[in-house]
Amino acid sequence: MCVDRGKFITFEGLDGVGKSTQMEKLAAWLRQHGISVLTTREPGGTEMGQNMRSLLLSSRTEGLSPMAELALMFADRAQHIDEKILPALERGDWVLCDRFTDSSEAYQGGGRQLGSEIVHQLQKTLCRDLKPDLTILMLTDLSHSLNRARRRNAEDSKHSENDENRFEKENRKFHQRVLDAYLALAEREPQRVVKIEAKEAIGRVHKKITAVVEERLGLARK
Ligand code: TMP
Repeated sequence: MCVDRGKFITFEGLDGVGKSTQMEKLAAWLRQHGISVLTTREPGGTEMGQNMRSLLLSSRTEGLSPMAELALMFADRAQHIDEKILPALERGDWVLCDRFTDSSEAYQGGGRQLGSEIVHQLQKTLCRDLKPDLTILMLTDLSHSLNRARRRNAEDSKHSENDENRFEKENRKFHQRVLDAYLALAEREPQRVVKIEAKEAIGRVHKKITAVVEERLGLARK
């Protein structure tokens, strides 16, 4: 029997903007509509990727060059696509992913100033040119999301040896470049990337996201 391919939705934005909460709420809502959903994240969506995540995010990692950082993000992604994302989409599941290639364009392309072109090339070469059907870009002001991310990581590092602070420790200019790169890619691809104001209450943001999903993708009837 031929199964319709599932939809691929990604969540993007600065650290601490509330992506994972909204992704889980959307997953629950889709499941209520009878859709089978896989939620996952980058970096670290596979067992192998967990090791790359630790290396990439630990503030103990020193001297990693921007190119090596980009290459590791794509190594994680290539494994994730082959091992989890494509098999799920081919089964007909919807895949919701907390960060994907747009994060590389924003953080390495923008933040680390490697530019967008190299990210697009790697995407074509290493990721079978897989693109999300829809990307939810969650936006708040810079200080709000950074403060939230730093509080969360300070709390997490009390309970674990491995802190994930390497990106949060970057300065405000870095994060401003990340935000600018996100806004530029949303301008470039308005049919795929939808900006969502994320500072409102969780329930209101969720409603906006479900409205976008209904409007842009419809709901799979299974
Ligand atoms: P998060 O899982 O808490 O969102 O943290 C992941 C961090 O990794 C976040 O600071 C953004 C960064 N990142 C990149 O710099 N490039 C990428 O391609 C991805 C997927 C994440």
